[in-house]
Amino acid sequence: MSEKLIDLESALKLEKKEAIQYYRDHVNPAFARLLGLLNFDKQYVRASGTKVWDSEGNQYLDFLGGYGALNLGHNPPAVLAALAKVQELPNLLQASMGTMNAVAAYNLSQLTPGDLTHTFFCNSGAEAVEGAIKLARIASGKSKIIYCFASFHGKTMGSLSVTGRTKYQEPFQPLIPGNNMVPFGELDVLEKIFKDQDIAAFIVEPIQGEGGILLPPEGYLQGVRELCDQHQVYLILDEIQTGFGRTGTMFACEESGVVPDIMCLAKALGGGVMPIGAYISNKEIWQKAYGSMDKALLHTSTFGGNTLATAVAIAAMNEMVAQDVSKMAREKGDYFIGKLAKLAAENEMIKQVRGKGLLIGIEFNQPDSNIFDKISGGMLSKLSYQYTGSLVAGTLLNQHQIISAYTLNNPNVIRLEPPLTVSYQEIDQMLNALHIIFSENKGLFNMAISGAKSVLGGLFNK
Ligand SMILES: Cc1ncc(COP(=O)(O)O)c(C=O)c1O
Repeated sequence: MSEKLIDLESALKLEKKEAIQYYRDHVNPAFARLLGLLNFDKQYVRASGTKVWDSEGNQYLDFLGGYGALNLGHNPPAVLAALAKVQELPNLLQASMGTMNAVAAYNLSQLTPGDLTHTFFCNSGAEAVEGAIKLARIASGKSKIIYCFASFHGKTMGSLSVTGRTKYQEPFQPLIPGNNMVPFGELDVLEKIFKDQDIAAFIVEPIQGEGGILLPPEGYLQGVRELCDQHQVYLILDEIQTGFGRTGTMFACEESGVVPDIMCLAKALGGGVMPIGAYISNKEIWQKAYGSMDKALLHTSTFGGNTLATAVAIAAMNEMVAQDVSKMAREKGDYFIGKLAKLAAENEMIKQVRGKGLLIGIEFNQPDSNIFDKISGGMLSKLSYQYTGSLVAGTLLNQHQIISAYTLNNPNVIRLEPPLTVSYQEIDQMLNALHIIFSENKGLFNMAISGAKSVLGGLFNK
């Protein structure tokens, strides 16, 4: 049997074509097809900081940043060194109190605002949301969770049940019952719903990432905090994407001085190297939920808090503080957003630029229908203008060697979410590419003419 297996050395040497074939045959054929149509099917073989290289020797700039997991860039040396330092410790020994687990939890209690003290480590963002929902339910003795339209909290059943996008929820109905959706940013609707129902928690992102980088109105989070206190509803803040400096403060909620009852974290906590998620709450909630010996193990995970992941989290947190990534995001974000706003003012294809720190979205206007009729070979009737985001991302990649992507809940927005360590020169490179694409209006349409037929055909014949 074993002679049929590919060993690691051979895997590392696989040609692009073969690697794609294995992916097609054994992972996700439809995604492989989509990436192929968009000319996104590169074989990336090396990465460092903001830079990535493919097997043909081309160099790219990564402005997707691992969906916000790469705050320190690809393969940060300090984080990789942590892995080497704990190689001889037991990685998995669940019937024990892991030292790295304990220290990572202590560090989180120091980094997060207010009275958040007790952490459970898991392996992803969605799992952190699962755990937070369970914690709110068991501690409150209530069951309903309120969440927002266009929110994104993950794709496992529990987190999907509070993710406000029909496309993702619909195929998996019935989801966890009793949850309700409210518009993001509207306190009066929240107040009404809080009056009517028996609610365990309200879960919200301080800035909606996958919703299209949507910032709430001034004072929203403070208002949410007050309403939650008034109605004894726990506030769960999902800082999975906004956390660890991304928006210019260590956590986005610091900007408004709001402390949640439970905070969900993941992504950059793993230094871009290890999968790790976490939820943290205050002592009172923790005691209510899991404070007795018979309840201590009600929520567990085999890999949760393992030595490698938590050692990496310790190193990542220290590195993010040492490098002052929040300041980096604030200063570079101000520069970047300022220049993008200027570009938007000069170009009608851009509807809006919005964001905070280095969590930035560009939303597009509906393109000129004549041009799209021409490039789509008469497919305009089928064409949703929503896919401008993927055309722009395709142009950025294939003409300018810059990696980006649209936001999951709003494909008409591309997200710019580079490592917080990105240089000004790299930001200028991105600005220059966008300038060529939009101001000259040529780049996008050249790309569209050469690629749109297959791209759009692929998208709409799915
Ligand atoms: C705000 C937010 N919450 C939760 C998640 C889910 O995290 P994961 O993909 O690690 O499950 C994401 C992922 O994009 C996110 O942006």
